[in-house]
Amino acid sequence: MIYITRRERFNAAHRLFRPDFSDEQNLEIFGKCSNPNWHGHNYELFVTVKGEVDGSTGFLLNLKKLSKVIREKVIIALDHKNINIEVGFMQGKLASTENLAVGIWGELEETIISLGAELHCVKVSESENNFVEYFGK
Ligand code: NI
Repeated sequence: MIYITRRERFNAAHRLFRPDFSDEQNLEIFGKCSNPNWHGHNYELFVTVKGEVDGSTGFLLNLKKLSKVIREKVIIALDHKNINIEVGFMQGKLASTENLAVGIWGELEETIISLGAELHCVKVSESENNFVEYFGK
C-alpha cells in the first residue's frame, strides 16, 4: 500500500454562527470567525489517496489527474466564494473547517475510486496553526 498527497489552495469567505443565537453569543462561541460581515481565509487542501503501484507506470495514480479531479470537484466550487452562501455541498451546515473537510471528502470519494485508488485523508488547513484531518469516519 502506498500513499500520495496532492496539495491545492483556495481562498474563501465564511462566517461561523448559529442564526438562533445573538451576535454576542456567536462571538462567545465562535470568536472572530463569527464576524457578521464575513471574513476570508487562505485555505490549503491536502488530499491523500492510497492504493497499489501500477507496475506498468510506477504510479499509484497520475498526480496531474488527481489535481484535475480536485480542481473540478472542489476548488472551482470553493475558490473566491462565500462558503455559507455559494457552495452547494456546504448548504445547511456550519461553515467550519471540520464540516468543510467532511464535505470535500463526499465530493471526491467516488471519483477517486473510479480512478483505481482509495481516498485516505482530506486535510484542510485554515491557517498556519489550525488544520483538520478527516479519514472518512
Ligand atoms: Ni474564519
